[in-house]
Formats: sequence, structure tokens, C-alpha cells
Amino acid sequence: MDESDMDRIGVGLLGCGTVGTGVAKILAENREILQSRLGADLYLAAACDKEPAREKEIPLPRGRFFTDAEELLNDPDISVVVELIGGIEPAKTFITQALAAGKSVVTANKALLAHHGGEIAAAAQKGGGDLLFEAAVGGVMPVIKTLRESLAGNRILSMYGILNGTCNYILSKITFEGKTFDQALSEAQAAGYAEADPGLDVDGMDTAHKLAITASLAWGTPVDLDHIYVEGIRRITPLDIRMAGEFGYRVKLLAIAKRRRNSIECRVHPTMVPMDNLLSSVNGAMNAFMIHGDAAGEIVLYGQGAGRMPTGSAVVSDLVDVARNRLCRGAGCRVPILSTTPEQMRRLPVLPISDIVTRYYVRFSAADRPGVLSKLSGILGAHDISISSVHQKGRRATGPVSIVMLTHEAPESGMQQALEQIAGLDVITDKPMLIRIEDDNAQEE
Ligand code: HSE
Repeated sequence: MDESDMDRIGVGLLGCGTVGTGVAKILAENREILQSRLGADLYLAAACDKEPAREKEIPLPRGRFFTDAEELLNDPDISVVVELIGGIEPAKTFITQALAAGKSVVTANKALLAHHGGEIAAAAQKGGGDLLFEAAVGGVMPVIKTLRESLAGNRILSMYGILNGTCNYILSKITFEGKTFDQALSEAQAAGYAEADPGLDVDGMDTAHKLAITASLAWGTPVDLDHIYVEGIRRITPLDIRMAGEFGYRVKLLAIAKRRRNSIECRVHPTMVPMDNLLSSVNGAMNAFMIHGDAAGEIVLYGQGAGRMPTGSAVVSDLVDVARNRLCRGAGCRVPILSTTPEQMRRLPVLPISDIVTRYYVRFSAADRPGVLSKLSGILGAHDISISSVHQKGRRATGPVSIVMLTHEAPESGMQQALEQIAGLDVITDKPMLIRIEDDNAQEE
């Protein structure tokens, strides 16, 4: 078919930063490939950024770059808006406006979806357009499509994700190059992985946003961010990573979600993963997402979780879906936006962290005196916590020693009470360090 006979689908790009320029590049360079896959012309009709200098980054005819989003949102040639501004406002207002006008929206905005996903999905439902967000979780990895479509026939039992490239990069630098946390963070920022506010990365909230989105899709429940236990990687030391290695584990910042009988577990924290688990081999800025389905068994996705072209690739895959739905009128409602139909969504409580049961690594800094070990193990024992191994590092002559213990499975509430009691002992010289261990694929209760 000649290009002039083809249907045309105009894309409007809001936000021309790293990912925006990647999307524009893919649409321009792969225009013919996209035409052959769609039988239609998917083209960049306009772009908008509050920074006028960004116009030169985007291949567009003269007069199609705006600094005012209203001009783009009101353009009748644009049937799909790509939102890559990030943050809550003004992104939320622009998306809502586009959806109300019946346009489709593709976004990579994980914070917005984690906070207001239900509301925005309802606006899409009302407007009749698509709302797609593959790029919001794990960059290039097709996490959303896998949950919404490929595993639609499964009961999801558990999910484990390495979903923040910055944290994984930092932990890898500490593990393999002996870098300090601060050195590794500066390198991650220079490499362009970190968020504008790196606290979102290293304190775990970026991962929690992605966990809220995926858990909601997996189990057809709204997930409040406030109910997710979130702990970042700032306190992880090279010693902990070395000790974890001696016990046969790597330390990863994991998003963990498990289906319980009448609730779900959703938590983000540094986690010790056995060396023979695939996730422990995911290094540098790479991301991975492991899903257990009752029929499918285990699936692992692996890929670049950030960056211009990988994230741009995920956005363009959503644009292709939007285009196909638009070409095949009415197909937009084929896949429910949140995977479960709106009428079937049910709220499942997120289990408080105090109610989880897991294994632990605990490191105590203590004076090297007779009887210290028995005091520690006595308190742990009194809380029904059974120790599986003990290591001591350091010698009396060089000050406090590090006593590291691995435990068998124990309830978190008992562990926290024991740690509080231990921290109050006069022989303890620093706040105890606790890392949870995942070495058993989650079994449903
Ligand atoms: N800051 C994020 C990361 C980018 O480090 O993975 C993608 O969400």
C-alpha cells in the first residue's frame, strides 16, 4: 500500500527528555517497519517541552514543537498522547484532559500510576481511549503485557523484582569493586540511571511504585503505597555484602509480592538471594522480574530497566497497541487497563511487615567479652528465634567485633522485639543490621 493511502495516527509527545528523544528517534528511524506491521502510518505529529532548547532534539516539521501543553492537547491531528514528564502534576492534569477528550494515553509515569492509577484508569474507561504504561515498570521488559495478557490464565503466586537499576548498579559496585555507597551512587548518577531525586531510588520508593502497579495487576486489587513496607540500601556495608557471600548469598534490593489466603505481601527491602537463584546473577543496572504462576511455573524477564532506547522501545510497543486498537475500532476495551475488569476488582489487605515470616541475617557490633554470644542467643531464643549459623569477624585488640547470625524462619514481630532488647545491651556498640533472606520460592498458604 502506498503511504498516501494509509490511515495516519498522530502521536503527541509531552516531555522531551531522555526517553522522549528516544521515542522520537524510534518513530522516525523505524517508521517504515512500523508501517509494515500496522498497515498505517504512526508518526510524531507534535512535541511539547517547557524547555524551548529541546526543540532541536526532536525531528519535527517547523511549528510542531510547543512549550504550552494546551496547544498539543487541543490538536485534532493527535489521537494518542505520550506523557513523559514524570511526577504527579502537571502530568495528571494533562493525562486526564487527553483521556476526557477521547484520546489514548501512553505513559511511563510510575509515581503517578502508583498514587492515582485507579482514578486515571476510570478516566480512560469513561473517555473510551487506551491507557498503556509498559515503560512504567522495568524499562524494556514486557512486565505489564506478561501480567495482563501472557499469564491471564494463571493464578499468580508470587513475584520478585529487581526493578531499580540505580540500586542494583550500586550494590554491584560494592560487591565486585569494593566501592563505598557514595562513590557508587555518584557513578550511577553520572551514567544517567538515577532519578532527578536519587532518594527515590536508594530509599526504595521507585521500586515500591513499580511493586504497587504490578501487584495491583496480578491480583485485581488496589494497592495503597502506604501499606507497602519500604527499606532502601543506604545502610548496606561492604562487610554485609562480603558476609552474605561467605554464606552463599548476594544482596539485592527486591520488590517482593506474595499471594496469601486472604491478603497479599508487598514489601521492598535489601534481600539475601542464594547464589544459585537467577536473580543473584543480575548485575549492574540490569533489571529482572520473576513471576510464579500456578500453571506457568516460573518466568523470568531480564533487560535494561532504564535508558533512552530501551524505555523508548517499551513506549513504542504501547503506541503500536494503541494504533492497532484504533485501526480495529472498539478493540480498545479488549484488555482491561488494570488486567481485571473494573467490576471484578476487590480490595485485598497488604499484610503488615510485622506479620511476615522469613529467615534473617543479623549483624551485631559488640564488645568481644565472655558471655556476649550467650546473651544474644538467649534473647533470640526467648523470642522463639532459632539460629542456623554464627560467624564472628574482628578481634578484641581492634575494638568491637562483628557477630553475624543467620536464623531459621521466624516471625518479624519477634525478631524486631529481640533486636530492640539486644540494642539496649551495654555490650552492643552500634544499631544491629538486619537483612531478610529469600531462599525458598514462595509457597501459597
Ligand atoms: N531510576 C530508575 C532506575 C529509572 O534506576 O531504575 C527507571 O525507572
